[in-house]
Amino acid sequence: MSKTAILEFDGKKYEFPLIVGTEDEVAIDIDKLRGETGAITMDPGYKNSGSCKSEITFLDGEKGILRYRGYSIEDLAEKSDFLEVSYLLVFGELPTSSQLEKFENDIRKYTLVHEEMKNIIDGFPKTAHPMGVLASLTSALTAFNPKSVNVANDKEMYEAVCKTMAKFLVIATWTYRKAMGYPLNYYDNTKSYVENFMQLMFALPTGPYKANPVVVNALDKLFILHADHEQNCSTSTVRMVGSSHAGLFASISAGVSALWGPLHGGANQAVLEMLEAIQKDGGDVEKYLAKAKDKEDPFRLMGFGHRVYKNFDPRAKIIKKAADEVLNDLGVDDPVLSIAKKLEEAALQDEYFKSRNLYPNVDFYSGIIYRSMGIPTEMFTVLFAIGRLPGWIAQWKEMRVNKEPIGRPRQIYTGSPLREFKPINER
Ligand code: CMC
Repeated sequence: MSKTAILEFDGKKYEFPLIVGTEDEVAIDIDKLRGETGAITMDPGYKNSGSCKSEITFLDGEKGILRYRGYSIEDLAEKSDFLEVSYLLVFGELPTSSQLEKFENDIRKYTLVHEEMKNIIDGFPKTAHPMGVLASLTSALTAFNPKSVNVANDKEMYEAVCKTMAKFLVIATWTYRKAMGYPLNYYDNTKSYVENFMQLMFALPTGPYKANPVVVNALDKLFILHADHEQNCSTSTVRMVGSSHAGLFASISAGVSALWGPLHGGANQAVLEMLEAIQKDGGDVEKYLAKAKDKEDPFRLMGFGHRVYKNFDPRAKIIKKAADEVLNDLGVDDPVLSIAKKLEEAALQDEYFKSRNLYPNVDFYSGIIYRSMGIPTEMFTVLFAIGRLPGWIAQWKEMRVNKEPIGRPRQIYTGSPLREFKPINER
């Protein structure tokens, strides 16, 4: 392969260097494009634009490959656990057993959230969407932890990671407790991180609580599968906000907001809302398939298709198995979940979906698992956020450590040319 790309523009030739990644992905480095030619590139949605070099996650959408720090998602989901994967993502290597034990214990040091945070939660109406509350609470953590992290100091960075992992989990579950009108629970330092999620969510002061190990295992897997996905919308947001040297909590709060949308993390909620709507409308799956195919109809089959996985979503394969295990173990008999099954089967047979390689994505199955666990639909994206947290932290850290410049895209102005200002009585 040549080492440069040549661009011919306005009668002149310009040469741009290539950047080649570990897996032979190629980028044309146009850093000097505007300076030399006066032109910019236009790529709405950034389908063809790389924003950074990264050592964290490799993804090949055509081949359905996802790897964190070189380890396949299949291996990690089967052999690892969420905290180990979090450590791997953020610090670059799998921990030794003493490093992992220390990491878990250090997270425990920060699991108490400032009591005054409760006053902030009290200000929200019970009906507030948990993602909005989570974004606000994450931002509010800055007020209680105002010291900015010196990313060049490993100890400070390590403490910031532990603190964020600890407090985010607790406040994420508080958004649910608030909506339910339940007292806010505290982290139990004798239990694991994922068990704590269940305990924080569901334990009531009226009796003991024991998390179901099959459910804890499936959740652990789901968190691993969601832990990073290279430069997706919320992660790019975290990096972009952090590029102005905004703090870690502020950047993550922005990531939560980006994740909320139905085309990104909000898809798992949208999946269940769609299934419930189909059920209420008589359960006719074919009618909704037809709507999804109709170009005049804005309806899309939620939980199908992906921006980068154009053949299959490797995470969906893993989680489909976990979904079956959870449904069997819990013995759930739910008409909405039967519709999910029918829809999945019908779409997989349908020419429109087959020809466009539209398969169920991870959110199709995660929504099903969450529902069977009794987690309310509005909390689904919060669970996605808990899983994505180590990825956001890892990407934020990498961006700051690499001293990346502030993110500031260009535009082509298409508005009015210069006009004369008319006083109000002459308009
Ligand atoms: N239902 C019906 N048609 C679809 C769907 C769908 N869910 N997804 C894509 N298509 C069609 C689309 O209309 C287009 O058809 P045509 O070639 O005739 O114009 C073709 O498939 C290619 O789609 P696209 O619009 O080029 O795909 P995209 O990369 O722009 O969008 C997507 C990807 C995820 C936004 C889209 O598939 C979608 O809206 N899916 C439903 C929402 C969803 O499940 N999102 C979660 C993604 S996974 C979570 C995450 O990682 O954030």
